[in-house]
Amino acid sequence: MDMKQIIAGRIADAAKASFENCELAVADVVAMLETPPDKKLGDYALPCFRLAKTLRKAPPMIASALAEKIGGEEIDRVEVVGGYMNIFVSRGNMAAGIVEAVLKTPGKWGSSAVGEGKTVCLDYSSINIAKRFHIGHLSTTMIGHSLKRIYDFNGYTTVGINHLGDWGSQFGKMVAAYKLWGNREEVERGGVQAMVDLYVRFHAEAEKDPSLDDLGRAWFKKIEDGDEEALEIFSWFKAVTLKDTQRVYDLLGVSFDSYNGEAFYNDKMDPVVQELREKGLLVESQGAQVVSLDDYNMPPALVLRSDGATLYITRDLAAAFYRHNEYKFDKCLYVVAYQQNLHFKQLFKILDLMGHEWHKGMEHVSFGMVSYEGRALSTREGYVVYLEDLLGKAIEKAREIIEEKSPNLPNKDEVARQVGVGAVVYFDLHNERIKDIDFRWDRALSFEGETGPYVQYTHARCCSVLRKAEAYKDAQPNYDVLCDDEALEVLMQLSRFPETVRKAMDQNEPCLITRHVTSLAQAYNKYYFEHRIMDEGDAAGTAARVRLTDAVRDVIKTGLYLIGVEAPERM
Ligand code: ARG
Repeated sequence: MDMKQIIAGRIADAAKASFENCELAVADVVAMLETPPDKKLGDYALPCFRLAKTLRKAPPMIASALAEKIGGEEIDRVEVVGGYMNIFVSRGNMAAGIVEAVLKTPGKWGSSAVGEGKTVCLDYSSINIAKRFHIGHLSTTMIGHSLKRIYDFNGYTTVGINHLGDWGSQFGKMVAAYKLWGNREEVERGGVQAMVDLYVRFHAEAEKDPSLDDLGRAWFKKIEDGDEEALEIFSWFKAVTLKDTQRVYDLLGVSFDSYNGEAFYNDKMDPVVQELREKGLLVESQGAQVVSLDDYNMPPALVLRSDGATLYITRDLAAAFYRHNEYKFDKCLYVVAYQQNLHFKQLFKILDLMGHEWHKGMEHVSFGMVSYEGRALSTREGYVVYLEDLLGKAIEKAREIIEEKSPNLPNKDEVARQVGVGAVVYFDLHNERIKDIDFRWDRALSFEGETGPYVQYTHARCCSVLRKAEAYKDAQPNYDVLCDDEALEVLMQLSRFPETVRKAMDQNEPCLITRHVTSLAQAYNKYYFEHRIMDEGDAAGTAARVRLTDAVRDVIKTGLYLIGVEAPERM
């Protein structure tokens, strides 16, 4: 229930009362409403020339007619200036409306039921087996996790999928290396890093002894053929990787509904290949089977290698059918870096050529790269930052800051985790996802500026105000005190939050929420510094300011939740 909506509703009512057969859609009026740059011209203005054509009347006449009929407690007065109707909202009533609406359903402001009965699949994080989780995986994990919460918040049924990268000839080499030089305890102890070391060693030794490559191929063949030993080792590799990664997911609070990855589709690709063939979409090229995409300015998509082996895209085709059949999705989002733009364009195009309308619900939610302290990450140059290390360091640094700023805080460890991890996540979700990110400690962990700790701190500040204001909890609030510009800005930020949530969902862009909670925090802090919340001589006014504070606390908490950041009550 946003103020603009309410005003638009009042205008639609007035139009209905003034003109015959005049049914204006509230959404259309919302789109027409302008916000005058100068508050002297009103809080909103309706340019009536936009209605002149439909109503066949002169704009000033329309403005006067509407002005005469418009009513509602939110409206203080209206003024007609030329073809404009300028609307002055009654700030006290408006404040009451917004604050009470937020507080009526705690934790739900901005939620909706638009997704009821609909399902969205989200493919995110999608890690590769036997590779360590580094900061390049942070965006897919957190954008996906945030979007899942946003869709949930809007009534969708959501399915979070970790499409594991658990298939490929490299796993044959890894098993071979393990058989040659590995031992169980070492891998159990060293986790993914021990597997990576084995793999690196395999490559180094294969340079000298090319017969190793044959050995690797032989082991991969065994995995493919379901050889017991090969499968046992391979699924153990998988388990070790997932266990290692789980520690990071636990820190981030991220979870999945399915871990069906590439290997899961081993026995599900035949029907797809068959259908492609029947529909005449497969052509032979140097022994391989490809789908030609020349007409769409794309290179051909390789579906089967000349030896019959399947590829990444073959598995993604099978996965698309599986998800369509299993979940009957309305949307299927792939949160994957922009390097895979072509892959997803090809994938969607092939489904389109196969005649499956449902491909329209699929979307590649791409994002940019992460560098660290000004330098691009490169495994080859040994410049990698593991996510677990990054989070660990963030928690440690947050702990130091807390020790310095609030040495008496109870549960310091817990708060340090919330703040450290929150800082990293906020930083990741602060910019439009397509932009590259340069992670910098000083910017992520600062308590000032647009940072996670800043917003969390504002939330804690609200909680602190509320703890001190217990006595005013039941006083009848007088909302007329919330008529200054600072309060108005806070109210605007509160009232526009639902619109932002919707936009964030429509554009799959969590940063819109990150920014909105930041603006809300800034607006509240400005209010807090310029106004005394508690005034013993005015219980009713205090009650209104306290309730405003409570609404801000609630919406910041919701906003942070939607981007996957926790909101400690004390910092
Ligand atoms: N594992 C892949 C990678 O790290 C990402 C998989 C994305 N999901 C998919 N269905 N292709 O590049």
